[in-house]
Amino acid sequence: MIIAPSLLAADPGRLAAETQRAQRAGADWLHVDIMDGHFVPNLSFGPAVVQRLRPLARLTFDVHLMCSRPELLLEPFAKAGANNLTVHVELGDRVMTSLWKIRSLGVKVGLAINPPTAIGNVLPYLEHLDLLLIMTVNPGFGGQPFIDETLPKIQQAARWRRERAWRYRIEVDGGIDLTTAAECARAGADTFVSGTALFHRRNLRAAVHQMRRVVQQAGRHAPHSKAKHTP
Ligand code: DX5
Ligand code: ZN
Repeated sequence: MIIAPSLLAADPGRLAAETQRAQRAGADWLHVDIMDGHFVPNLSFGPAVVQRLRPLARLTFDVHLMCSRPELLLEPFAKAGANNLTVHVELGDRVMTSLWKIRSLGVKVGLAINPPTAIGNVLPYLEHLDLLLIMTVNPGFGGQPFIDETLPKIQQAARWRRERAWRYRIEVDGGIDLTTAAECARAGADTFVSGTALFHRRNLRAAVHQMRRVVQQAGRHAPHSKAKHTP
């Protein structure tokens, strides 16, 4: 199980210290949301921020591009030190070229899907993925409530992975707290992005530890759970 605090909920005036805090807290990944003010109505970080933070921690930098033209940004973020690059399936016929580009940059390949988009849209790409990111809120802002209707999508993604012996991680992002993380783990998720419920806690270490315990417990009740995935 991977716990990935989301930098969007960190103190924006202290990103370096917050990155180190995530590492000290025992997090596995640092989730970095990139917003372009077009694909989503908000702005966040550019490659220079990732480049600055990268040497401060051994954490995997999990870069989630909520951008209309990710093809412009893949190489800059890979060069800045991203370990995972995730683009959105809503880009339609430009998805496959982005996935190949990510692969060619030597980083892990991720695909994200928004709550209103049917899960069948990711099916043609699943065999190429290291990571399927199922958005559990509409992207753009932290602190939104979890959308329950996304749970069947997690179950379907887990079913496909089981049936076809594919190996992508199933990551959830948005409104993830101890309760919703457990629900997602039972549905088959193994990678948990959480902003508000982690970074807003004074004791981040305790928060990460609690979330890990809860999802490990709940994951035992997931269909065919096997801890076969590595970070
Ligand atoms: C939403 C982002 C999330 C966000 C999650 O657009 O993709 O990564 O930081 O924040 P919380 O956990 O506060 O919902
Ligand atoms: Zn995200």
